[in-house]
Amino acid sequence: MIGSATANGRVSITGIGCNAPERVLTNDELSKMVDTSDEWIIERTGIKERRVAAADEALSDVSLPAAKDALEQAGGDVASIDLVIVATVTPDMAFPSTSAIMADQLGMKNAAAYDLSAGCTGFVYAIAQAHSMVSAGLANRALVVGGDLLSKIVDWGDRSTCVLFGDGAGAVVLERVSEGGFLGFELGADGSGGPQLYIPAGGSREPTSAETVAGGEHYVKMNGREVFKFAARVLVESAEKVLANSGVSVEDVDVYVPHQANVRIIEHARKKLGIPEERTVVNVDRYGNTSSGSIPLALADAEADGRLRPGQLVLMTGMGAGLTWGSALIEWTANGKVGS
Ligand SMILES: CC(C)(COP(=O)(O)OP(=O)(O)OC[C@H]1O[C@@H](n2cnc3c(N)ncnc32)[C@H](O)[C@@H]1OP(=O)(O)O)[C@@H](O)C(=O)NCCC(=O)NCCS
Repeated sequence: MIGSATANGRVSITGIGCNAPERVLTNDELSKMVDTSDEWIIERTGIKERRVAAADEALSDVSLPAAKDALEQAGGDVASIDLVIVATVTPDMAFPSTSAIMADQLGMKNAAAYDLSAGCTGFVYAIAQAHSMVSAGLANRALVVGGDLLSKIVDWGDRSTCVLFGDGAGAVVLERVSEGGFLGFELGADGSGGPQLYIPAGGSREPTSAETVAGGEHYVKMNGREVFKFAARVLVESAEKVLANSGVSVEDVDVYVPHQANVRIIEHARKKLGIPEERTVVNVDRYGNTSSGSIPLALADAEADGRLRPGQLVLMTGMGAGLTWGSALIEWTANGKVGS
């Protein structure tokens, strides 16, 4: 566990953007594909619809508009971005990294660029890394993308997983600021829980073959009940740790942005933590679980609704494959264009 990483110097988010594929897939459509119903999905998950990428759309295609919006809002010269991190489990391909592909498309010729794999917690891990590199002076301005196209790796014949996931991406720019900024992070992983949420084949353990494809081993496998229990526990524990480590009480949290996996998990965590409903951002009903895209999409939604104002304390907590978890606490800063 990386505990109590107290921010060294002020580094904050100065620009944010999000994007999702156009195609909306409703629960009623899903109920024609597998043995499920709109009622079951809403009651057990709170999800009403999700976005699904087109056959020819890759992660970089969906993430690029989000990155452009974040860069536009941050202002400044795009060439001054010297670090690009894309958090994802569904890169365009194993290599080159999606971050290198995007850096090239955005005209960032010399930026360091790499992908980061931490399941649905990827975005929180990535902002912690970008924060550390900027505050340590290894980078000046970082672009962090969290995005996934889970529609490409779920088994559309498996009702226990396919109803839960969707596609989307969000992006933020991190840099030094004079006011506000990150107050702390809390990250962790328990690899013993790995088999609860994984893809058996397609890596060096079980390379793709005709047999693995025939057996559907390139699809997401999940023990829903175990992941539910894990999620309900770590969302609370991780949030409590980052708040305690930062000397902030839960009453001071203005906006709570939990990972959007299931409205029941969100409700459990928010009640246990004592955060009122009106301070909690929920968009899982419209997007489903977009993995690394989930927290930045929810953040960008809250920003678009005018819920993120300078000086407000924003708590984000994610959890996912690994099994991993992570929290970030930030005092929101005016975007880079304000006053410029
Ligand atoms: C998957 C999840 C929604 C299932 O909800 P649940 O209330 O635990 O449901 P159960 O697993 O107990 O299944 C209840 C029944 O519904 C059935 N079922 C599963 N999926 C179904 C679907 N889409 N439609 C209808 N029935 C379904 C099951 O087969 C089971 O039937 P059975 O009792 O005859 O075996 C829930 O466990 C969950 O959200 N887990 C966390 C998943 C997650 O967040 N993963 C990503 C983490 S980043």
